[in-house]
Amino acid sequence: MIEFELNGQAVTSDSPPDTPLLWVIRDELKLKGTKFACGIAMCGACVVHLDGSALRSCVTPVSVAANRSVTTIEGLDSAIGKALQSAWVEEQVPQCGYCQSGQIMQAAYLLENNPNPSDADINAAMNGNVCRCMAYTRIRTAIKRAANGGEA
Ligand code: FES
Ligand code: FES
Repeated sequence: MIEFELNGQAVTSDSPPDTPLLWVIRDELKLKGTKFACGIAMCGACVVHLDGSALRSCVTPVSVAANRSVTTIEGLDSAIGKALQSAWVEEQVPQCGYCQSGQIMQAAYLLENNPNPSDADINAAMNGNVCRCMAYTRIRTAIKRAANGGEA
């Protein structure tokens, strides 16, 4: 039995310790906002925060989360998280939407550590988050809007 905090709630997992955290979040704990795509840490669709750091849950064993705090898109209610979600709406960022929770979680990690990123900072931080719909320009614009207090 592995215990951890998920979006502020204490949870337990009965899965084997090497089960990917993504499977536990989606299939055992039934939060479907975090997506599975590549499964090999190459796309960023599965990004969650572990004790505030962005990580790829598809390649992270659930045992790594033991007695730690996991945040998914459903629990991203920090000021930065809310600003990003508003900016995403304002800029109408998503197309199919599949990559977007991972994009927002990665962007939140960026802004927590760099509240006023340059284009180059954003490109570097978001480089590993793939969007097959090519929403990259809108993603960058939305990050800048969120960093700018909601102003374009
Ligand atoms: S599904 Fe985890 S990085 Fe692609
Ligand atoms: S919005 Fe479709 S993959 Fe990014």
